[in-house]
Amino acid sequence: ILVLPLISGCTKKENEIVIGEYDSLTGSDATFGLSSNKGVRLALDEINAAGGVKGKKISLVTLDDQGKNEEAASAVTRLITQNNVVAIIGGVASGRSKAAAPIAQSNKVPFVSPASTNPDVTKAGDYVFRVCFIDPFQGMVMAKFAKENLKIKKAAILRDVKNDYSVGLADVFAAEFKKGGGEIVADLSYQAGDIDFKAQLTQIRSKNPEAIYVPGYYTEVGLIAQQARQLGVKVPLMGGDGWDSDKLYEIGKEAINGNYYSNHYTTESTDPAVTEFIKKFKAKYNETPDALAALGYDAAKILVAAIERAPDLSGKAIRDELSKTKDFPGVTGKISLNENRDAVKSAVVIQVDGNNRKFVTTINP
Ligand code: PHE
Repeated sequence: ILVLPLISGCTKKENEIVIGEYDSLTGSDATFGLSSNKGVRLALDEINAAGGVKGKKISLVTLDDQGKNEEAASAVTRLITQNNVVAIIGGVASGRSKAAAPIAQSNKVPFVSPASTNPDVTKAGDYVFRVCFIDPFQGMVMAKFAKENLKIKKAAILRDVKNDYSVGLADVFAAEFKKGGGEIVADLSYQAGDIDFKAQLTQIRSKNPEAIYVPGYYTEVGLIAQQARQLGVKVPLMGGDGWDSDKLYEIGKEAINGNYYSNHYTTESTDPAVTEFIKKFKAKYNETPDALAALGYDAAKILVAAIERAPDLSGKAIRDELSKTKDFPGVTGKISLNENRDAVKSAVVIQVDGNNRKFVTTINP
């Protein structure tokens, strides 16, 4: 690995800095990678239009992990050994970040996840960062919302046992909901890729919960909402950021409307950082940016700011500057990275209303 940069350096254009990115551009959570990539590209285009960084233009190499953990790991290996990237923006889904980040760590290549919220992700080591909050907070947010806003005392959980993110969030929600007397009346499982959830939903129905927490990704959640309503289960469904996709409504249709999830930002914000971003994003892509687009944008801006401050382009120099990120004015809030290289930020609760994401409330850490 140490030798390769010298070799590829001969063919590399001297006036550019290469950043790597990998994510799901295809597969059942493709909107995660596609949106994040749009946010990253918008940020880098702006930076390049303003002259680049350290007098050089930034180029981006994006690889598709097809939504598979093994592909995420090989994408990171390839970015490091073949594309000679100075840093990696990667990994929306926590499971894929957990598979890939240790490779960046062992090669001392800084890795910034825009959106992986599982606490284990940054435990890969001191080269691994994220610009989003973590699930112990996100799970607490919905437990608090259920108890205080929806006034719910009995909840059920339906978790994706094949998904580290879903399992982590379900565990936190259960623990937080039980504090102060809430009861989890059923805690059932499915696996990503399943299409029939009627057995679990029938069992949940028999326990009469007042709400169901479904911390999965949008494809399965859309189907679960449809089948729940078909079975006459009318109570609110609640979830986390994994719901945030235009495909959620496309799959769930009216059945998903009115339900709640925690998220990273609201398009209803009047903060100029948000309104400006939405305007620029719409002008470039002709669509409203979801949370991943906003997080991808923030991740790219924070990484480039660290590259700009770093005395040289070594992994160590960039890493050291990343770790000093403080009060960065992001679209998704003011971003400071703590000693665990995680961001500490507010979350918002969103109510699904077609593809309008209705802002309900903000919950602070
Ligand atoms: N937080 C999710 C995970 O860790 C990924 C995600 C973030 C999905 C934001 C949608 C929006 O797996």
